[in-house]
Amino acid sequence: MKALVLSGGKGTRLRPLTFTCAKQLIPVANKPILGYVLDQVAATPIKKVGIITAPETGHFVENYVADGSSWNLDACYIPQKPLGLAHAVKTAKPFLGKDSFVMCLGDNVTGQGLAGFIKKFKADHLDALIILKEVDNPSSFGIAQLDEKGNIIRLVEKPKTPMGNLAIIGTYLFSNRVHDAIERIKPSWRGELEITDAIQEMINLGFAVKAEILNSWWLDTGKKDDILSANARILDEYVQLDVKGKVINSTIVGRVKIEAGAQILNSIVRGPCVIGRNVLIENSFIGPYTSVGDDSKICNSSLEYCVVQECVSVQNVERLEDSLIGKNAKVARSPRGRIIKLNVGDYSELEV
Ligand code: DAU
Repeated sequence: MKALVLSGGKGTRLRPLTFTCAKQLIPVANKPILGYVLDQVAATPIKKVGIITAPETGHFVENYVADGSSWNLDACYIPQKPLGLAHAVKTAKPFLGKDSFVMCLGDNVTGQGLAGFIKKFKADHLDALIILKEVDNPSSFGIAQLDEKGNIIRLVEKPKTPMGNLAIIGTYLFSNRVHDAIERIKPSWRGELEITDAIQEMINLGFAVKAEILNSWWLDTGKKDDILSANARILDEYVQLDVKGKVINSTIVGRVKIEAGAQILNSIVRGPCVIGRNVLIENSFIGPYTSVGDDSKICNSSLEYCVVQECVSVQNVERLEDSLIGKNAKVARSPRGRIIKLNVGDYSELEV
């Protein structure tokens, strides 16, 4: 069995961050989302992983994953124009060959490993296993309708009038028969070859397709608020008190991870939080569910429920909440009181 990890796409919903970074590399708890996906693949016996990349951001992904050896995986890259999830599978056909495979979306994280799904897929001799989770906004996802025995009746991609609330999450298992189905489908109204349509076609062809309900959390980090939720969830699940940096005249409360070289001066840090390497926090309050990336400086400010990436400067900001701040950004209160001075990239969103 192989793994196919989708790290391409356009990332339009996360602009402007995705002009200079692949969306799968946006960090939560100071680690790119794609890193969590590869951790889950690495925890299975699978060794060969093909990574789908987009022309604009592929080099960022290759830089991060390299040959995959950090995960003890053998990684290769499959460039693709973002024409749909099924198109990505079609593009990866030379890599996949006749093997069955796990397909993971590089911007989706779950709290449940892949081992149980692989076991079921093999034991039941399936052609496809899809994983479902109840959602509040079914029009934003591929939706599955099941009968009372749990068999799939119908699958629809982003239905305008949803026939249920069971969303298809970004983990799929396929036999090589998925390629036959992909050959038979046409692009959807949004011009993409949809994997949902391919799975529906597998059902129509009488292939063995089953669904399983995820019994843990799942986050699709497609938009800013999803990144903040994923950050909060991961901080909550994984962070333990671990102080490697210097803490001087400051108070650390709860589960806080402070990396080597960081300095916390005259400040309060309330977990769960991670503070990256060589960060300076001075005369500030860092509230729960905040991640501060390496080499950032936070002075005379108060932050809560934020993702701050690397080399960011935040100065004299009374209160920053629910914010996602890209690499090398500078945020400062104007010395002239209420005047706001901005130098903001295309597609930025500011609430002042
Ligand atoms: O998150 C789960 C949902 O993912 C499912 O419920 C939907 O059925 C499925 O179509 C997909 O919907 P999205 O609209 O959220 O997909 P998105 O365009 O965000 O792409 C998902 C990932 O796949 C993302 O990491 C980018 C990558 N991708 C996307 C496309 C369209 C590629 O690598 N190549 C592509 O052509």
